[in-house]
Amino acid sequence: MQNPFSPIDEIAIQKAVRLLQDGKVVAIPTETVYGLAADAKNAEAISQIYTLKGRPSSNPLIIHLNDIAAIQDWAIDIPEVAYQLAERFWPGPLTLILRKHSKVLPLVTGGQDTVALRIPNHPVTLALLKTFGSGLAAPSANRSGSISPTCTKDVRAEFGDTVECILEGGPCHIGIESTIVSLVDNRIQILRPGHIDEIALQTVTKKKIDNTAVGHIITPGSSPLHYAPHTALYLLEKTALEEEMMTRLAAKQHVAILHYSLLSHTHSAMIRQIKLNPDPIAYAQQLYASLRALDDAGCDCILVEMPPQTLAWLAIHDRLRRAQHSI
Ligand code: TXA
Ligand code: MG
Repeated sequence: MQNPFSPIDEIAIQKAVRLLQDGKVVAIPTETVYGLAADAKNAEAISQIYTLKGRPSSNPLIIHLNDIAAIQDWAIDIPEVAYQLAERFWPGPLTLILRKHSKVLPLVTGGQDTVALRIPNHPVTLALLKTFGSGLAAPSANRSGSISPTCTKDVRAEFGDTVECILEGGPCHIGIESTIVSLVDNRIQILRPGHIDEIALQTVTKKKIDNTAVGHIITPGSSPLHYAPHTALYLLEKTALEEEMMTRLAAKQHVAILHYSLLSHTHSAMIRQIKLNPDPIAYAQQLYASLRALDDAGCDCILVEMPPQTLAWLAIHDRLRRAQHSI
């Protein structure tokens, strides 16, 4: 998150609002990852998002709001639990799926009859939303299939100058995308795990949380290969990782390693390693920037140490599983 003591750049926000009103796309900071935003009521602006990302238009976008009361402008049949969750977690890393209001553009919802809503927790984007006065549709600001950006430099690396305005908001303090929870059909179903976990949802709602969809393809954008670096990435238990590393070094390969518990015993010009904090919250914050740095190192592969199999690591497992691929 931006330093709370640094003043918000009002001029930059005014400029961004004007661009959005003109139907342009603006990159925005959120607490999770940077987003690529456009006026949710402007079909031409929305179609630019799909084009820029190279994203199929059947894969719907999240509408970002700045006020809980605005839910009613975008959704219908809103269950009480939606307000309970919004009161507790908004602004914050939670996206709610609700039955859509008839006026929501089909292009935003990928033609589905549901809509995704959230209030992001970032002072710059909250100020932007307040001045703009309506919803902003925004997917993560990366090309379809690649790693979400967690700082403006990474947004620039994705889009170069094709995105005219990237609002500076510092590094994202959560670092992975919001938890997505569907509230349609009288169920509370986690579609994408994130910082807000099953227990947190259960504590607030006192209802059964369905997590059977996690890890399965359920949201249209949950393709198994997502968040992927260009370099082949393998997710391995510690011992297997060390063996793989030795084999590859013996074959004169360059190896990138992302880990949280290996002893940094191997100092070799052939190895580029990043050791992340073993706390899952701090790990998530650094995950995407680390994957990008390792990808840019130009190694033959990236070996990632398998995180612990506990609830606190669920969202990280989900993202790493989808980053895993060989070329
Ligand atoms: O943290 C986040 O959620 C970030 C920031 C920018 O807010 N946004 C983000 O958007 O991750 P995106 O488009 O990269 O991922 C949104 C996911 C997609 O997988 C999409 O399929 C799913 O949300 N989604 C959107 N609307 C949906 C709906 N009506 N039903 C089910 N899934 C939906
Ligand atoms: Mg995304």
